[in-house]
Amino acid sequence: MAPSNRTSIHGTWTGRWTFILAAAGSAVGLGNIWKFPYMVGEYGGGAFVLVYLICILLIGVPIMIAEILIGRRGRSSPANSMEYLAKEANTFPQWKALGVMGAIAGLLILSFYSVAAGWAISYVFEDFGGESANYYGEKFNLFLQDGSQLIFFHSLFIFITAFIVARGVIKGLEAWINRLMPILFVIVVLLCIYATQTGAFLEGVAYLFRPDFSKINATVVLAALGQAFFTLSLGMGAIMAYGAYMPAKQNIGSTALSVAFLDTTVAILAGIAIFPIVFANNLEPASGPGLVFVTLPWAFVNMPLGVIFGKLFFVLLSIAALSSAISLLEPGVAWLVESLKTNRFIASGILGLIAWTLGIFSALSFNILSDFTPLGDRNFFDSMDFLSNQVLLPLGGIFIAIFVGWVMKKNNVLEELELKDTLILRIWFFLLRFISPLMVAIVFCSAVFLGVVT
Ligand code: PFF
Repeated sequence: MAPSNRTSIHGTWTGRWTFILAAAGSAVGLGNIWKFPYMVGEYGGGAFVLVYLICILLIGVPIMIAEILIGRRGRSSPANSMEYLAKEANTFPQWKALGVMGAIAGLLILSFYSVAAGWAISYVFEDFGGESANYYGEKFNLFLQDGSQLIFFHSLFIFITAFIVARGVIKGLEAWINRLMPILFVIVVLLCIYATQTGAFLEGVAYLFRPDFSKINATVVLAALGQAFFTLSLGMGAIMAYGAYMPAKQNIGSTALSVAFLDTTVAILAGIAIFPIVFANNLEPASGPGLVFVTLPWAFVNMPLGVIFGKLFFVLLSIAALSSAISLLEPGVAWLVESLKTNRFIASGILGLIAWTLGIFSALSFNILSDFTPLGDRNFFDSMDFLSNQVLLPLGGIFIAIFVGWVMKKNNVLEELELKDTLILRIWFFLLRFISPLMVAIVFCSAVFLGVVT
């Protein structure tokens, strides 16, 4: 059996490794280098890491395989791929809404993701010359109060993202991913080597890998699952869009495993780079979102070559954010190009502008709009984060699993995976049909109805 031989009008990745690099570029982002370390700190070290790894393997990888499969068989934007596959399965055309919802979720995420990416870019220009431990706390607060600076860096970031996407799959996405990802891996490794010189390397590593099982509770499991989902870029069609550009001969299962492996490796390496620095300076690992913007800069001030490595760290964060942001815009841009028959510059300009405008509200939610709380007591930035990560992505994930697990004809699924009815396939199918949707539904309900995960 061979996969379908349709091709995408947007092009096909030219290199053998490009899909893996592109999907890893989407997956590795602020989620790995900013969020993962501070969640490890907040949820108690090794116990959280262990649950996170289990979630990646049992829920993340099966859904990622399903997303790639839909994209590659549909060979279009997520919305049109869903429409095509719904027709192929003789079922409701309304399944297309899943792809449309993904494109909208991408814009919502991009709008606030870009504001946080702007913080990272601005720290590249930091001279790491603060005088006290409080200095960076105050500095970060002052920065958040300064709406015009936040908007400046947010605008810069959206502009670069939209420009790369406008250049197209080969000249834009592939060309930039091929440049950015090797730099990213080199910087992560350099920072880890640097961490070995801090004197607290083993303490940092033990913190990550020695699980204290008494710390595992429902909140930890829910947080780990939510993070596994976000970090693999699942549920909104980013991986689906990239799957549409994947050569027919590439094997989907092993590719998904490689992407998950790379993503997890970078998250763990980011932890290995950060915690020894935190412990060597007697700082608090559980300092929340401020860990890399407040705690870490003060650590760099006190270390030899701290200025160079501090800057490198924030270059790393900015690159990781950029390669993810591209994948947030691509599903919507590909869809506009297909449905309006317009060119990519116009499509990416329009959607970039929408994300930019929404992002302005996020940038201002830390200062003049701080009293504006659209969802519960969350400001605009947190509301967008909640709506996309806790509502739209999990919903998308559940329906993707249901579509491939229950709605598509099994023969077509097998054909696209190039697999016979083997044990491995049965395990994947079982996870996809039962475990993934159920677990994600539990997280979704607890987040939305009980407010356990924030
Ligand atoms: N995976 C990215 C991160 O870890 O930062 C975030 C992300 C990118 C989520 C693309 C969803 C997405 F479609």
